[in-house]
Amino acid sequence: MSAIEAKKEIQELVDQINHYNELYYQKNKSEISDYEFDQLLKKLDDLENEFPELKQPDSPTQRVGGTITKEFENVVHQYPMLSLGNTYSKEELEEFDVRVAKGLEGEPYDYFCELKFDGVSISLVYENGILIKAITRGDGVRGDNVIANAKTIRSLPLKIKLEPIPSRFEVRGEVFLSKEVFKKLNQEQEDIGEETYANARNTASGTLKMQDSAEVAKRKLDCYLYYLLGEELNVSSHEEAIQKIEQWGFNVSPTYQKCKNIQEVMDYIVHWEKKRGELPLETDGVVIKVNSLDQQQRLGATAKVPRWAISFKYKAESTSTRLNGITYQVGRTGAVTPVAELEPVQLAGTTVKRASLHNANEITRLDLRIGDSVFVEKGGEIIPKVTGVDLTQRKDTTASVVYISECPECGTPLIRKEGEANHYCPNDSGCPPQIKGRIEHFIQRKAMDIDSLGEQTIKQLFDLGLVNSPADLYDLKKEDLLRLEKVKDKSAENMLAGIEASKSTRFQSVLFAIGIRFVGKTVAEKLAYYFKSMDKLAAASVEELLKAPEVGEKIAQSVVQFFNQPHHVNEIARLKKAGLQMESTSVEPELISQRLEGKSFVISGTFENYERDQLKEMVLANGGRILSGVSAKLDYLLAGENMGPAKLEKARKLGVTLITIGDFEKMLIG
Ligand code: IVH
Repeated sequence: MSAIEAKKEIQELVDQINHYNELYYQKNKSEISDYEFDQLLKKLDDLENEFPELKQPDSPTQRVGGTITKEFENVVHQYPMLSLGNTYSKEELEEFDVRVAKGLEGEPYDYFCELKFDGVSISLVYENGILIKAITRGDGVRGDNVIANAKTIRSLPLKIKLEPIPSRFEVRGEVFLSKEVFKKLNQEQEDIGEETYANARNTASGTLKMQDSAEVAKRKLDCYLYYLLGEELNVSSHEEAIQKIEQWGFNVSPTYQKCKNIQEVMDYIVHWEKKRGELPLETDGVVIKVNSLDQQQRLGATAKVPRWAISFKYKAESTSTRLNGITYQVGRTGAVTPVAELEPVQLAGTTVKRASLHNANEITRLDLRIGDSVFVEKGGEIIPKVTGVDLTQRKDTTASVVYISECPECGTPLIRKEGEANHYCPNDSGCPPQIKGRIEHFIQRKAMDIDSLGEQTIKQLFDLGLVNSPADLYDLKKEDLLRLEKVKDKSAENMLAGIEASKSTRFQSVLFAIGIRFVGKTVAEKLAYYFKSMDKLAAASVEELLKAPEVGEKIAQSVVQFFNQPHHVNEIARLKKAGLQMESTSVEPELISQRLEGKSFVISGTFENYERDQLKEMVLANGGRILSGVSAKLDYLLAGENMGPAKLEKARKLGVTLITIGDFEKMLIG
């Protein structure tokens, strides 16, 4: 291809991709499948590699990353990034209001309230409409330019189209991992037997500082914007600035509200204190800003914080209790997790008796002693955390914690690999929780989905010596099952039917079920699609594996090591003989009907009988489309339990039809 032809082709691809991206992120519509979209990106990427001089500065290929930044450029903020004063009570907030009133010498004023998003602040610099820098807060004066990583945030415009735009401006906001994405990330960690991340904020912060932007792209960061800075912006209030950045295509949380006085601000605070749990991301308070920019300027700032804005922090739900001891749990992969055994205490409506301590480093960091009075907090996560020790209560009688050196379940000496935080029990073939854990992993819904068996049944089957590995499940006879407690004819038949039905489970799920280290659900899907069969995967070399999507050195090595072990090969041969699916069949979900043709859906909340992914597949299989968010173009919002109030409000405002799961089921029957 000549350079002229390449230039034309590149331009066409850029336009096409930008068009689909814009449709998706700004109009919540998708006209092509993810697969087709990825193919377009790949084509563009190949051309850009062949003709590097033709690569455009705002090319959409930057969304998928690929840039390695050894050291981030340290840059000075044109406008320092101030922090905010904090208040914790109505009284302190009223004092702020008095200071504002005094500063404005009796002039009338409005407030603009937003939620305080718990993420990592970022300043995005645009020149001639193009995103050129993304600077972290740093010390407020200088920060790191993490532009390659920021560009992977799909909802962030790389180029502003709407004219006229100021030649230079900055938009500031908060980069975060949504609760859903964070949960999935931790689910993946759990699936592969790795340690889970403690909280979304720190994980978002760590992600933004990763050197490989392709890794960042996989993490699915998002960003809410709340501040516009620059010259000749042509806006006179914060409200107008927010509207402007919304029009330019930035992601603004719809939770903001203009308030006429401090009482309305209080109402806003009380409203969101109850509702914030339902939002897509963690929030730890409210930010209250004087709306008029002229008034903001006159109120000015101290050295560190503006006088025209303040934050109201919601109280973290926390208490203190006695640390009675530490126990140790051994997981499926042999990883040992220490658990704090606490004197039972009431916290946020539940009794807390235990809290995870993650690993030995955490115990050292907290300098825990048995008998200490410890602070326990419940953040966004369901599992409570030990956040510190009340040293004023420490008695001489407290004893230091000596971390165990042998497996509490099988007595094998524990090992700790260089650079890893966890201790491991290496006895994978003889340590009971590891064996039971592997079978529980195998039968879970996301794997073989044998719901007629459960944790208790597995425990009994193992204790009776009937099942030692997943393949043993397929040799079970009715008389074996009748030996289990409370199991009669009917339930034994049920269990056998469940085991039998699992033989038709798709290959990708089988691949996940066998529990190769670092192969979670997503990686298993990609491997199944790429290699098509267990035999081909088992025969693949590290080099061949590295060519598959999402596969890095760690996964490739782990797969090769797995298939090098004779007991794994033997187990897989038995599973194959039992009749499990060892080859991929179709790739795209088959179209079952056209009943939902032309109809678009957003699925929100939780459902008793369905996983959200399952519902999405049902929409697609019946010819419908899934949109990423609520907009005027949306036909149906399928509403489950605990749906976010912001989404509901938006849907009502836009007149989108709300349907229940019952309505949806009726639509499918026709
Ligand atoms: S405005 C000069 N608005 O809170 C005022 N900040 O404690 C600039 N934050 O560094 C900040 N949500 O990272 C503002 N709606 C919001 C915010 C927000 C979260 C963060 C931001 C800031 C920190 C100050």
